[in-house]
Amino acid sequence: MDWTRMRLEEDGRWYAYKDWYARKWSDTKSWAYARRRALVIWLVIVLLLLGYLFQFTTVFHPSRLYSISYQEQVARHNSLVSQKIWQILLPMPKKLKSKPVAFAEPSAWMQMNPGYTYTLFGTEGAVAFLQSRFPRRQDYLETFNELRNPGLKSDFLRYMVLYAEGGVYSDLDTRPEKPIDEWVPTDYETVARLVVGIEYDSLGGDIGKDYTYPVQFAQWTIAAAPEHSVFVNMTERCIRGLHELSEKYSTSLGEINSKDDEVLKATGPVAWTETVFEGIQVQAPELQSISDLSGMKEPTLYGDILVLPINGFGSGLPHSGSARWFTPKEALTTHHSESSWRINS
Ligand SMILES: *[C@@H]1O[C@H](CO)[C@@H](O)[C@H](O)[C@H]1NC(C)=O
Repeated sequence: MDWTRMRLEEDGRWYAYKDWYARKWSDTKSWAYARRRALVIWLVIVLLLLGYLFQFTTVFHPSRLYSISYQEQVARHNSLVSQKIWQILLPMPKKLKSKPVAFAEPSAWMQMNPGYTYTLFGTEGAVAFLQSRFPRRQDYLETFNELRNPGLKSDFLRYMVLYAEGGVYSDLDTRPEKPIDEWVPTDYETVARLVVGIEYDSLGGDIGKDYTYPVQFAQWTIAAAPEHSVFVNMTERCIRGLHELSEKYSTSLGEINSKDDEVLKATGPVAWTETVFEGIQVQAPELQSISDLSGMKEPTLYGDILVLPINGFGSGLPHSGSARWFTPKEALTTHHSESSWRINS
């Protein structure tokens, strides 16, 4: 290549160079050296590009290759949590369609938990489920049908599903980090019938503006044995709360403003936190206030309710002492984004 390039140098004069990369080296090093150097630069660029493309293949996703022998799996299931995984995807009303729903690999749930059944509820499946499992509770079905906001519907449905069947409910934007059979510490396997994770902990400081209590339980992931009474109280509470709000604002359930804090509180984590804590206090009256759970380091059992510290379900959060930059070994699931429908509805 015998072309030249002109370049204005610091002394204000124009100089000719054979190649741009030869500029620095031409006095002291040979042209061959400069060419080799260019070759190395190109190689690095090509390798980086290939590396980038490879991330879309399975090579870099070990969870997609997760496998375990069936024998081993069967032998390991000792906890009371049913071998069932539930997720919910309800259609978004057209007017709310502003953000896509975030998915984080539902298949990882199946692959990491052989022996578990997996159900992704849509509206019809949910209605059929409520009809067959709660035939005498028409109000459950009616409330579910009347609600229009998919976030509120999904909140409400998860408690009834876990009551009737047990298992693990998890939002679609979560990723499992450990097989469900390893969630409950061995010592608690024959006792724990409800597993809840802390999602917020003020750690003794001021309570964050989006929170009501110094400690809040997540309801994006819940594990349970069938028929835990906390879910009865929670379901009743949702129905009561929603109807009170629709009366207060003289609207139908379908029209109550689901952006409203009060509405989110009726079915979401605040109501869940209060209901679970009530259940904990029934079994562990020595607990005075929910802030007694603050700063928890190890999974702790209260009666038959197992509470996981922040990193159980809530690693990667920018608060609450959560491990932010890496996934710690005690992480059971990670939550990847806030439910998109909650914000825009
Ligand atoms: C459910 O609510 C009832 C009535 O408020 C209460 O007596 C009971 O202890 C609650 N059960 C649990 C598990 O919290």
